[in-house]
Amino acid sequence: MTAIQKIKGFADLFPEDARAFTRMEEAARAAFGRYGFGELRTPVLERTELFAKGIGEDTDVVGKEMYTFTDRGERSLTLRPEATAGVLRAAIEAQVIEPASSGRPTRLYTFGPMFRYERPQKGRMRQFHQINAELVGSPEPQADVEVILMLEDFLSGLGIADLSFELNSLGCRQCRPAYRAALTAAFEALDAEKLCEDCRRRMRTNPLRVLDCKVPGCRALVKDAPVIGDHLCADCREHFAAVLSLVDRAGLKYTLNPRLVRGLDYYQRTTFEVTSGAIGAQTAVAGGGRYDGLVKLLGGPDAPGVGFACGMERLAMLMEKSEAPRPDFYLAVTDARAVDAGILLAHKLRQRGLAGECDYQAGSMKSRLRHAGRINARKCYIIGTEEFDAGQVAIKDMDEGGQLTIDIAAFD
Ligand code: HAM
Repeated sequence: MTAIQKIKGFADLFPEDARAFTRMEEAARAAFGRYGFGELRTPVLERTELFAKGIGEDTDVVGKEMYTFTDRGERSLTLRPEATAGVLRAAIEAQVIEPASSGRPTRLYTFGPMFRYERPQKGRMRQFHQINAELVGSPEPQADVEVILMLEDFLSGLGIADLSFELNSLGCRQCRPAYRAALTAAFEALDAEKLCEDCRRRMRTNPLRVLDCKVPGCRALVKDAPVIGDHLCADCREHFAAVLSLVDRAGLKYTLNPRLVRGLDYYQRTTFEVTSGAIGAQTAVAGGGRYDGLVKLLGGPDAPGVGFACGMERLAMLMEKSEAPRPDFYLAVTDARAVDAGILLAHKLRQRGLAGECDYQAGSMKSRLRHAGRINARKCYIIGTEEFDAGQVAIKDMDEGGQLTIDIAAFD
């Protein structure tokens, strides 16, 4: 019978890879904790309308990539393609968002699997994992900067070097309409036939999305399109200038990317991405920005927000592989009668805080010592015939080579 295989675009993480994920989570907990963020865990399944409304019907994520199905109660549900909408849904539902005037923003982070039906390739999965942080309830540019600095803090704590920060401002409800009109006019002046089918529609419905299109023909055609920076209203210009000035003073290196529109519709004002040239075609390891208006759109108070998400699979590619932790002991048994005694002794060692494995079957001394070397145990505890009869255990120091024999009762 052929064995059942995993689904395309989904991955199994064995200890070597899972260790990198654990390290990332621990580093995130430590870094985000220093900025006053608390952990939130939300369900992987949400009502489809949450994403349709929050992320935007015209985005690739909602239009083409969601895992949506009808449950047995005829409800349309979707495996979350990202975390922001669910985090905000939870914060609104639990009424933890205070008005911006309170000066007490809500700071939450979350980790977990996200699902997008994309074409799998290196660094692009259908189930992938994000580390996500949201700061809700502050319109101030300082909030954008703290979130960006927290991201940088976290990434540098992982020892990942050579990352580029890109920043842009997407304007707001006041200035975006004029920019959209300028974009539409520019696209109409182009040979629209050369745009892909989606972009021919988007140039009227949501022209910013055309800038985000990955089709090479579209990219080439839009390269001289107007840039948002030339259309920002005075407030957005002031906000972005304040962000850049503070980021400069904090010493963060970045480049301005006027084409950085992001793939989700909720962004306003500051957007940012972190890229690496070392992981293939999928270069973005993190992305985020400000989403004023989204909380209200989802039925909550009129609270602004800013946040980011990192792709854990992509970060893992940039991290040094970490060694498996070294076992303190390997408990070897070379006499079948001693198996239970071995289990009980190993249990006592673990109760003392030591880590290691033990045999369920007796074997030859040679094969046992070879195994102790293979798993790199610090000490090999051996219960053979002589030891068993005497109620003893031999302890071999695998580094120094010395050996001593002691009574098992000494561990009671
Ligand atoms: P995003 O840019 O769609 O933003 O995703 C963030 C990161 O998730 C990407 O930079 C990438 O590293 C990773 N990622 C996305 N799709 C995949 C995939 N198919 N395979 C592997 N990794 C992937 C968001 O999701 C926003 N919710 C971020 C945010 C939070 N904005 C404000 N708050």
